[in-house]
Amino acid sequence: MDLKMAGRVALVTGAGTGIGRGIALLLAEEGVELAVLARRGELLDALAAEISATGKSRPFVVIGDVADLRTASDAGAKVLSRFGRMDILVNNAGGSQPASINEPEGAWSRGFEVNFSALRRLSEVFLPTMRQNGYGRIINIGGTHEPVGINVTGSAKAAAQFWAKSFADEVARFGVTVNTIVPGRIRNERMLKQYPTEQALRAFGEGSPMGHIGEPEDVAALVALLASPRGRYITGDVIYVDGGQHRYAF
Ligand SMILES: NC(=O)c1ccc[n+]([C@@H]2O[C@H](COP(=O)([O-])OP(=O)(O)OC[C@H]3O[C@@H](n4cnc5c(N)ncnc54)[C@H](OP(=O)(O)O)[C@@H]3O)[C@@H](O)[C@H]2O)c1
Repeated sequence: MDLKMAGRVALVTGAGTGIGRGIALLLAEEGVELAVLARRGELLDALAAEISATGKSRPFVVIGDVADLRTASDAGAKVLSRFGRMDILVNNAGGSQPASINEPEGAWSRGFEVNFSALRRLSEVFLPTMRQNGYGRIINIGGTHEPVGINVTGSAKAAAQFWAKSFADEVARFGVTVNTIVPGRIRNERMLKQYPTEQALRAFGEGSPMGHIGEPEDVAALVALLASPRGRYITGDVIYVDGGQHRYAF
């Protein structure tokens, strides 16, 4: 299936590692012009070099912490001045942040900045250009719906999912779709540290119905469909890429 994405422009946050990196690689393969944002510029530069070595356009690197209030507007200005438009926003930056009952206030505020406010702000920054072009795809990478212990990120991502549904309703008539993808156990930086051998990773993945963890490209495949013109009638939705791991039928 031709996804008809050549020449579209995307921003992927948290693109230096894990799922975001996989998304950036697949979108580039589909001919999408990329901007990539994270705090560690060296990882983004390595990704940009890898993509340009395949003959695709070199991604535009933006270094920033999405928790900072100004990052969305600053990054938005840079990216719009470089490309003149934005078609696809992938809000992927984040990561699990387990907490205790008396977790310090600062940890909660920062977690909500990264996993909720940042994606709302970036979506608001790019909405005018998406609306003007009659084409926009906002894809948020969510988190599990089954809490195991208190988790700042899980709480913030639940808020993000609620917001995304209402935002989706507001912007649907402008050709802008908004969806959330919920990954299961997908190979990432933290997992590689926690389970440093392939054998340990295999054992960790055995709890899922498929018997193994997923790969970033498994999430990227769904991102590509949702980001493409083919995904035009899918909005306000929450879709799992978890190898069947969530334990409820509806
Ligand atoms: N892998 C899973 O099993 C799983 C399951 C459920 C949900 N998720 C979600 O999937 C998304 C991707 O995570 P991952 O699993 O691929 O983990 P990862 O490898 O740790 O990637 C997270 C990326 O986000 C970036 N990032 C984190 N905080 C940031 C900040 N404040 N500002 C800018 N960039 C930031 C990091 O880059 P820098 O450190 O360079 O900034 C990193 O590249 C996250 O939102 C995570 O919550 C993953």
